[in-house]
Amino acid sequence: MESNENYVEQVVCNQNDLNDNEMKVFDIGEDQKVLVVKQKGEINAIGTKCTHYGAPLANGALSDGRIRCPWHGACFNIKTGDIEDFPGFDSLPCYQVTISKKGDVKCRIGRRGGVYRRAQPARAPTTPTLRLTAET
Ligand code: FES
Repeated sequence: MESNENYVEQVVCNQNDLNDNEMKVFDIGEDQKVLVVKQKGEINAIGTKCTHYGAPLANGALSDGRIRCPWHGACFNIKTGDIEDFPGFDSLPCYQVTISKKGDVKCRIGRRGGVYRRAQPARAPTTPTLRLTAET
């Protein structure tokens, strides 16, 4: 675990711990949690509770790029945490994710609720592939 007074950065799982279209809650730091979502080979980390009345989003419905809250149906973007449908009051926090060559998923979360957004979706590093074509 790496941390300073502003953030905690920690490996929370391995990318193989999640199947595609699966989401799980992991502990991070001393008392915080992240919702890690894997979809189309990308891994994202967002807040665990709905901004409406705090429903656990891990029990919600994951569809193409969004999670629908299990209690009243608010929708959130899994890449940005942005609210996309009511009745949520605000967007979710969205956390920086990096994936090591071994597939370890590391999340960075603010110590006091601060949010660390990332610019690019997290994908595991890929090795170059050699493509062979047959000559005719
Ligand atoms: S608690 Fe999520 S929409 Fe109400």
